[in-house]
Amino acid sequence: MPALGSQPGLTSADLKANLHDIQDNIVTPILMRYGRHIFLKFNDEAKSRAWLRNMFQHVNAREREHGTRFTVNIGFTYAGLKALGLSQRSLDSFPEAFRMGMRGRANVVGDVGPHAPEHWEGGLGSPDICAMVLLRTDSDEGRETATRIVREEIEATGGIEIRFIQDTMAANESGIGSEGEHFGFADPISQPPIEGADTPSYPGDGVPESDGTWRALKPGEFLLGYEDEVGPGGTPMPEPFELRVNGTFVVFRKLYQDVAAFRRYLATAAKSLYGNDDKHHRDLVAAKIMGRWPSGCPLDLSPEKDDPEIAADPDRRNNFTYAGDDEGLRCPLGSHLRRTNPRATPLKRATAVRRHRLLRRGVEYGPHLEDGALEDDGIDRGLINLFIQADIERQFEFVQNEWMKSGEFIGLDPNEQDPINGVGGEGSQLSVPGAKRPFLFDLPTFVTVKGGEYLFAPGLNALRGIIEQKF
Ligand code: HEM
Repeated sequence: MPALGSQPGLTSADLKANLHDIQDNIVTPILMRYGRHIFLKFNDEAKSRAWLRNMFQHVNAREREHGTRFTVNIGFTYAGLKALGLSQRSLDSFPEAFRMGMRGRANVVGDVGPHAPEHWEGGLGSPDICAMVLLRTDSDEGRETATRIVREEIEATGGIEIRFIQDTMAANESGIGSEGEHFGFADPISQPPIEGADTPSYPGDGVPESDGTWRALKPGEFLLGYEDEVGPGGTPMPEPFELRVNGTFVVFRKLYQDVAAFRRYLATAAKSLYGNDDKHHRDLVAAKIMGRWPSGCPLDLSPEKDDPEIAADPDRRNNFTYAGDDEGLRCPLGSHLRRTNPRATPLKRATAVRRHRLLRRGVEYGPHLEDGALEDDGIDRGLINLFIQADIERQFEFVQNEWMKSGEFIGLDPNEQDPINGVGGEGSQLSVPGAKRPFLFDLPTFVTVKGGEYLFAPGLNALRGIIEQKF
């Protein structure tokens, strides 16, 4: 393995030997059900570094070290890196989007109207938020134990305040939400595989090749310091190399889901599109909005009816390209799935789809709304999205801005937005080619942004360097 810092760029061949230096949940998802995101403010540079020095032993540590099974990961905002005393030279080398933060980029991301930062919770997005500690564990008890450790370390050094806490609990005991996120869909299914990582991947996950096979993406799309899909020079990078290598950018987003509104709309829309609001037609509308049936079976492979066998088969359920469906008759061009990864769909504004992929490590928060309930129960529920990528502007922001907040890129009306994550209300629409009435209008705002942060999650060696004021 080339020594860290001695190279302008590592390749996929170097990845395995570097895995110990990369924080958990980046290359491989953490499959533990209970999560806690603790947002911190650093009030004192030296004390905050002292706290970090003590916390360092817990990052990526496991059962043996903790006595109970939990993981700890740490990411910093730009304000946090500044508060820790990073040199101006290094601070200035971070990409502009990260330096501005999610709140500062609200207009680029489309966080306007009901999603605007003025409605966000817990001071998220403000300069007070310096770091996020992510705890994942198997039980409520484990979560409290892990939290106690973080609190004790804070009390030992002082100089730090807890500003906001967000818990998660995966809908599925295995730790990811494949039993159904709050709207009732299997999720996640499609994740980009990383070349050299040796994690399981299935047809459809990566980049389509001309012979019908799929390949993994270069690690530099998701990890700093590695070769990416176009080679050196394309992506702005924190300096020096030792600071960025094995690090990544994490986008935290709290997304409230109005499940009752979603269920009510399925019935109204099924009547309007198909003249029938029975279960099949409600599921069909859900599928037209999402691009997959609630089971996870993609519309591209089974447009008329759900196929549970495809949904259950990891080799089939993601193996499609939308080839031969340029009109969106099988899967609407504006559906959530097709917008967030158009695969081989011919686009009106040419772009290399493989440069805009995201690793999604989202987990549900809040309890499910009771089955069949059509009225809201007032309980906060939704998805805590963690998007992982090398370039926030080219990946998360591009997907939000170019693919989800307009229809032009794929030949739709510019006002047509992602039906799940757009701003709903008067003027909103979704084209559903082939339906009796091929448009849905006035979609409610099903998902509302409640806050977010752009975070830098350094490799362990870099974390040590930040503590020791090397950069
Ligand atoms: C509460 C809000 C959201 C919900 C309920 C939701 C739900 C889903 C579901 C059910 C799938 C299909 C499962 C799969 O293919 O893995 C999916 C796929 C996906 N979503 Fe979301 N999502 C939400 C927000 C977002 C946001 C904000 C983004 C990006 C900025 C995003 C990006 C993606 C991507 C990239 C895929 C995979 C597409 C593919 O590879 O075919 N999602 N989402």
